[in-house]
Amino acid sequence: MNIRPNAILEVDALERRFDVSAPWLNRMIERKPRRTLHAVDGVDFVIQRGQTLALVGESGCGKSTIAKLVTGLHAPSGGSIRFHGDCDRLQMIFQDPFASLNPRWRVGRIIAEPLRTLRPDTPDAAVNARVDELLQIVGLSAADGSKFPHEFSGGQRQRISIARALAGEPEFLVCDEPTSALDVSVQAQVLNLMKRLQNEMGLTYLFISHDLSVVRHMADVIAVMYLGRIVEIQPTADLFARPLHPYTRLLLDTIPDLEAPKRDRTAMGGEVPSPVSPPSGCSFHPRCPLAFDRCRTERPTRRAEVLDRRVACFAAERDAADAP
Ligand SMILES: Nc1ncnc2c1ncn2[C@@H]1O[C@H](COP(=O)(O)OP(=O)(O)OP(=O)(O)O)[C@@H](O)[C@H]1O
Ligand code: SF4
Ligand SMILES: [Mg+2]
Repeated sequence: MNIRPNAILEVDALERRFDVSAPWLNRMIERKPRRTLHAVDGVDFVIQRGQTLALVGESGCGKSTIAKLVTGLHAPSGGSIRFHGDCDRLQMIFQDPFASLNPRWRVGRIIAEPLRTLRPDTPDAAVNARVDELLQIVGLSAADGSKFPHEFSGGQRQRISIARALAGEPEFLVCDEPTSALDVSVQAQVLNLMKRLQNEMGLTYLFISHDLSVVRHMADVIAVMYLGRIVEIQPTADLFARPLHPYTRLLLDTIPDLEAPKRDRTAMGGEVPSPVSPPSGCSFHPRCPLAFDRCRTERPTRRAEVLDRRVACFAAERDAADAP
């Protein structure tokens, strides 16, 4: 992969395996082999500075593992992650703002912490002024700094998490399901706040969600994941206008249609298989309405002619070849 002038993050053939074997003694008694889980299985993408790349897919497809690889909480089992930015200025926002905020600290101290870490010589008065300012930027008040996290609603707590992330003067934010724990109306407010902050501060987001209707409003480029792999990646408008992978089409079918809410929606058929023993060939074939013989034996790779527009599907390849 060539370095692109505006790329802030380049992820290439990234892999992460977990040993999920039973404990040694059990394995010996029950004569069970070691078991390996491929949580991330050859993933590549590029994020342009100031843009948002979204990772979407069902539970267990490897989204959070990628977030942890990018932020250094996990080491890769293979492949590479190249960050063309200041590593100190990478911050993460988690799904559960309560679990990620220290319940015994006042909010002001929580927000001040990354600032003090980044600039240890800052005088207290300047730290306090900046904390007040950050609280206001995220739509809270300076007085909120003296309260504890439990005194806030879920949406307000997520605003506190955002203020804390901003205190580290980030240029790159990894946001793992930042609004999935919130009510729909509160979700929209927090998403709008994140969008506004991105525009004002030129932030870059890796935005993770299981919900295509959420990423539609946030992302420049969407990567759809299935069982540890990206099956399709396209600019957002194109993905919605012309989804190429059968799995993407199924995902799109399950999001509520505001214009025709009563329309019958086909539920996604079948369970997601286990990443410990994924199906042969195209791992989506047991659920795919278009599967044919080749899909059961051969693994489709994403054709790499354009980095931001790729699909890993034999049927889509065939259609592209047939098109004039
Ligand atoms: N530390 C770990 N040890 C063993 N297996 C793990 C570990 N972390 C994740 N996994 C497994 O890796 C796979 C991917 O998990 P991951 O949390 O990345 O999925 P996800 O897409 O974020 O799902 P969700 O939408 O539920 O958050 C899952 O099968 C999960 O059980
Ligand atoms: S490669 Fe085959 S099984 Fe996989 S998504 Fe395409 S048509 Fe379906
Ligand atoms: Mg997750």
